[in-house]
Amino acid sequence: MKFRIEKLAAGYTPGSQTIHGISIEIDQGETLCLLGRNGVGKTTSLKAIMGLMPYTEGSIYLDGERISGIPTERIASAGIGYVPQGRRLFNELTVRENLEIGAHARRHHRVDYEKILGLFPRLEGRLGQISGTLSGGEQQMLAMARALCLEPEILLLDEPTEGLMPTMVQAIAQFVQQSMAMGVSVIMVEQRLDMVKMVASRICLMDDGTIVKTLSIEELPSNMETIHRTLSV
Ligand SMILES: Nc1ncnc2c1ncn2[C@@H]1O[C@H](COP(=O)(O)OP(=O)(O)O)[C@@H](O)[C@H]1O
Ligand SMILES: [Mg+2]
Repeated sequence: MKFRIEKLAAGYTPGSQTIHGISIEIDQGETLCLLGRNGVGKTTSLKAIMGLMPYTEGSIYLDGERISGIPTERIASAGIGYVPQGRRLFNELTVRENLEIGAHARRHHRVDYEKILGLFPRLEGRLGQISGTLSGGEQQMLAMARALCLEPEILLLDEPTEGLMPTMVQAIAQFVQQSMAMGVSVIMVEQRLDMVKMVASRICLMDDGTIVKTLSIEELPSNMETIHRTLSV
């Protein structure tokens, strides 16, 4: 598996670019974290990868095949799973129904409950529960479980730990580690450095719609000043 983003640019209105010149390459089983202040274009970058931005330029290749410029459903079924910021579940539906909808985009339409519940034991016994009544952490797990039903090669996670308790953050870190072990590559927007340190192999610092620096996890300690500067308002 090889995933490559080349000079991605996108905007919400014609002629204005919110992100420009974003290039990322990611290997199988690697986790790359996008870091940056609010409003620098992290969410927009993930939306552009998913084909959800009205004005997009640049190219995206999955295993040598160009997946940019095609409809979002086809990007998803090519193997890109997306968990948007704020999760976006079908709140009135049950846990099971949310998972079934996740699996629907894939050809075989089957949820591998053994695998999903193995990864998210907290969802076991809650399959019939209306998802809007789950705790915040459980909703995040369901959103990730639903994305996993697509059997993605790449997972895009937008601030999965936002507003969650430390024990839930730990559970999400564990899930990301398990995904990597299964060979899934992860691109994750994450503001919590404790989380970044637990899962990232590389870090892209974003400012003003572009990647200003890419660091390996080993380079993190000697670049803390730059990181804090990039993150401070
Ligand atoms: N739907 C939208 N329409 C117009 N502008 C938007 C929209 N969503 C976000 N923006 C703008 O795009 C910029 C980047 O936003 P976003 O990608 O959400 O930032 P981040 O995720 O890094 O906090 C911000 O200036 C924001 O106001
Ligand atoms: Mg965002």
